Amino acid sequence: MITLHEPAYAKLNLTLDVLGKREDGYHDIRSVMQTISLRDDVLIELDTGKPWVLECTDETIPCDESNLAWKAAKLYLDTMNKDPNGIRIHITKRIPTQAGLGGGSADAAAVLRALNRHYGDPLSILALAELGAGVGSDVPFCVIGGTAMAEGRGERLRKLPNMPDCIFVVCKPDFVASTPELYRRLDESVIGKRPDSQLMESALLAGDLGKVAVNLCNVFDPLVTAEHLEMNYIKSIFNSYGSIGQQMTGSGSAVYAIVTEFEYAAVICNMLKENYPQVFIAKPV
Ligand code: C5P
Repeated sequence: MITLHEPAYAKLNLTLDVLGKREDGYHDIRSVMQTISLRDDVLIELDTGKPWVLECTDETIPCDESNLAWKAAKLYLDTMNKDPNGIRIHITKRIPTQAGLGGGSADAAAVLRALNRHYGDPLSILALAELGAGVGSDVPFCVIGGTAMAEGRGERLRKLPNMPDCIFVVCKPDFVASTPELYRRLDESVIGKRPDSQLMESALLAGDLGKVAVNLCNVFDPLVTAEHLEMNYIKSIFNSYGSIGQQMTGSGSAVYAIVTEFEYAAVICNMLKENYPQVFIAKPV
């Protein structure tokens, strides 16, 4: 039996703009994305000689063929015409689900990377990312990780200079925001403030963390914040204790702050943890 280990990093959207609805029902986006050290661990056993099995430490997550990690394994093995003679996937879950942190996509991307490495890297990292688009819109970015601009449905990727060193505090409130529902509501509303991708890119190029922080912008944030005023409460705690920029990630409901000192992050965690058990400190990776 062969065992593979792969980390699966969560993502944050530093910017997220929705440009319009497409004929296939999806939306064209433009987003600067960043992987962070908050992560799941994916273990894969090959040649088990048994039927496929997927296990996850979080019991609320479906462990059947609907799981993105399972879909990724099937897509990779079918596409590359490989038969591993049984596979067991075990996911140690730490990334909150339905949070906009790309947890399921990160697991799927980890499966793709691990299998591709095992078979001797027959696909380039960009080809692997392209394959990942068949599993979910955020999978291509999660395959390459780091700092990148994602366009199209999320599958057109361009590497950007690495995000300057900083600390993220990520808080996942209890409520869940439905991604398709939010896209629908965005279609019906007029978008007020949109991100300036060029400014964000030049901030990254200059390694200017302050400029990155003030240019965070996500078109879904005002929609969700208007309905869930606790977002303002979380942001006010961020603001009061050293945050230099904060916003929701993806379609939510996780919200994050950028801070420059670990002490600030620790104080924010202490302030929030009574009401929000899911608070994390992370670094860009
Ligand atoms: O691709 P994924 O399964 O992550 O997308 C979930 C849902 O989010 C889609 O079914 C679609 O309603 C919406 N979506 C979209 N445009 C995107 C990404 C997601 O409309 N670029």
